[in-house]
Amino acid sequence: MNEYLFIRDIAEKLTSNIHEIIIGMDEAIRSLLIGLLVEGHILLEGAPGTAKTYLARVFSSSLGLEFKRVQFTADLMPSDITGSIVYNRVTGALEFRRGPIFANVVLADEINRASPRSQSALLECMQEKQVTVEGVVYPLPRPFLIIATQNPIELEGTYPLPEAELDRFLIRVFIDYLDSSSELKILEKKQLHGERIEVEKVADLKDILRAIELTRKVHVDKSILEYIVKLGQQTRKREEILLGVSPRGQVSLLYASKAAAALEGKPYVTPDHVKSVVNLVFNHRIILRSRSSNPITLRRETMEVLREIIEEVEPPR
Ligand SMILES: Nc1ncnc2c1ncn2[C@@H]1O[C@H](COP(=O)(O)OP(=O)(O)OP(=O)(O)O)[C@@H](O)[C@H]1O
Ligand SMILES: [Mg+2]
Repeated sequence: MNEYLFIRDIAEKLTSNIHEIIIGMDEAIRSLLIGLLVEGHILLEGAPGTAKTYLARVFSSSLGLEFKRVQFTADLMPSDITGSIVYNRVTGALEFRRGPIFANVVLADEINRASPRSQSALLECMQEKQVTVEGVVYPLPRPFLIIATQNPIELEGTYPLPEAELDRFLIRVFIDYLDSSSELKILEKKQLHGERIEVEKVADLKDILRAIELTRKVHVDKSILEYIVKLGQQTRKREEILLGVSPRGQVSLLYASKAAAALEGKPYVTPDHVKSVVNLVFNHRIILRSRSSNPITLRRETMEVLREIIEEVEPPR
């Protein structure tokens, strides 16, 4: 039997599980699954009250993973994330008290409200998957996945993530308002369930680690690698783009494409798998020359340029 159907099965169960209480948000749910399979971090962007936090909680409780939430505020210190050395009165010894970063899924809520110093403490954990305190290295648990949220409107008292830090997110997904019939469904669900977040668990830790391992082994033909290189290069050739994607962006596209294949139960990547994630992986890594002052317009313009790039670059047969 094709082992990858096991991943497709988990993905389908998880999605329908989440839809028991959450309406829509399909692109965000798929992004979280992709992030999980390659342990890539996800930035959920959207207006207040669009269920970013709620989705992160329901997602991790469906997977039986350890979940922690850190509310990012201006006075948050790096040690509030990573942990600190404390004096134990009973033993009289100094010991390391682990911060909330020690969990499988960490929600960095409203990441752009923290000072750059705290943001960078988080980004260090994202990259190295470990915490160093007083010269001692503490590895983070596995799987390890950060889900960060932010409001796209840069309000007073926010510190927008610098480009180099945005680049560390595998995917940025924009959460838009739903249509009126979906909004009606939200209210109907609330009537029934209130704010419940408990859902059936669709996979345990062992299953998830196996799914991650299988995803790593998804086959990628040389022609697909060349396609990914060309897509990245095309972002650097376009007139309206000031800064194109980095090699890290191309590597991220490779990983996300493998996860997209695995989610469909396929052991190999096709050009369509790549196309299906280009927008998600590249949108936060390019800077347009015409910087519209409205961030929502800017996001739409970026998506449009990326759609054109996908049209321009010939996929392999
Ligand atoms: N698509 C949806 N499906 C189900 N419930 C929803 C949906 N959108 C919003 N809600 C409801 O709205 C509430 C607010 O969601 P939540 O607190 O997660 O928003 P948020 O996007 O994190 O907002 P903020 O940016 O202010 O933190 C949820 O608890 C839920 O009751
Ligand atoms: Mg929230």
